[in-house]
Amino acid sequence: MDKKDISPMDKIRIALIGYGYWGPNLLRNALGQPRFDVRCVAERDAARRDKLAAAYPDIALESDGLTAIARDDVDAVIIASPADTHFMLAKAALEQGKHVLAEKPMTTTVADGEALAELAEARGCVLMTDHTFLFTPSVRMIKSLYDDGKLGRLSYVDSTRINLGLFNMEANVLWDLAVHDLAILDFILNEEPVHMTVSSHAHLTEESPDLVHLTTYYPSGTMAHFNLSWLSPVKLRRMVFGGDEQMLIWDDLNNDEKIKIYNSGIKLREESQRHVATAEYRIGDISVPRVPTGEALAGVAAHFAAVIDGREESIMDGRRAVRIIRILERAQALLDENRRQIAAAKQ
Ligand SMILES: NC(=O)c1ccc[n+]([C@@H]2O[C@H](COP(=O)([O-])OP(=O)(O)OC[C@H]3O[C@@H](n4cnc5c(N)ncnc54)[C@H](O)[C@@H]3O)[C@@H](O)[C@H]2O)c1
Repeated sequence: MDKKDISPMDKIRIALIGYGYWGPNLLRNALGQPRFDVRCVAERDAARRDKLAAAYPDIALESDGLTAIARDDVDAVIIASPADTHFMLAKAALEQGKHVLAEKPMTTTVADGEALAELAEARGCVLMTDHTFLFTPSVRMIKSLYDDGKLGRLSYVDSTRINLGLFNMEANVLWDLAVHDLAILDFILNEEPVHMTVSSHAHLTEESPDLVHLTTYYPSGTMAHFNLSWLSPVKLRRMVFGGDEQMLIWDDLNNDEKIKIYNSGIKLREESQRHVATAEYRIGDISVPRVPTGEALAGVAAHFAAVIDGREESIMDGRRAVRIIRILERAQALLDENRRQIAAAKQ
């Protein structure tokens, strides 16, 4: 079936698939988006459907995502079911000429992601992934500081995304959490890593590491380190950007001082001055800009509507999503190889 053009006078009729942990946030923001008319929610679990029926009596309910996709009164689908269902559901939607916003990660393999991106292009449909953090005001501010040269060349990015849980047997901490950091860095640097190293530990099950340290190296010289854990006693969400002009710390859990910019740096002294000290330190002012507030998912919903309308170019389309999945796939292969080597060494 071909894509149906939606007139700007008509609302974009939406089906949401999956009403578990994250689905309710997407539903709330889809309902708040003036271009959308949420027609239907599909959810396998009967108790969750009952909860939905009580809260939103005007929204039709389906028990299966494929039935929701096939409805005549649906133009676009938002997929918030587990990652291993995204490919099957997104493929069915695109084949029926319907636009897709799939939760992260868009698919669990590069091959599936590329197939979806090709299908979307062939059908003229919008395919996007919810890389939520690209609509976080702090990330927007860091991106514009970087693009304006205020940070200079980035030597390193050091990211900490740790907390206790949510342990998930279907994913591991790499696929669950690194996807956010990698999407943020892809957005800011617009580069793909040329090399990476990775190490992990699995406290509960061998197949599902709950602690991962990933280091990626970018063509422009930036090195990024990601500390990811579901097994930390405290929750930390912090990224340090080491620029040669200024350094920046983003603490996402600090509502008063989310971003701090340090006019600090270090450079080698002239050869003739090195008898005094080898390096010269610059320890300047610290500024704390006011970061606008706003829910990132509202931005994601508005962007999905604007891309369908042709008012905006997508910043998180299928091709971009594949770039992130390619990094995850390579990192996973390295983790698997490490595990084999450690098992062999123990024998
Ligand atoms: N962007 C973010 O910050 C963010 C945060 C959390 C989760 N997520 C993503 O959202 C997705 C869902 O995660 P979750 O934690 O909400 O999972 P979940 O298991 O809590 O919920 C998924 C729901 O989908 C339903 N479901 C599964 N297959 C279905 C089908 N074929 N038809 C209808 N319903 C179906 C399940 O019954 C379940 O209620 C994952 O891809 C996850 O990575 C994104």
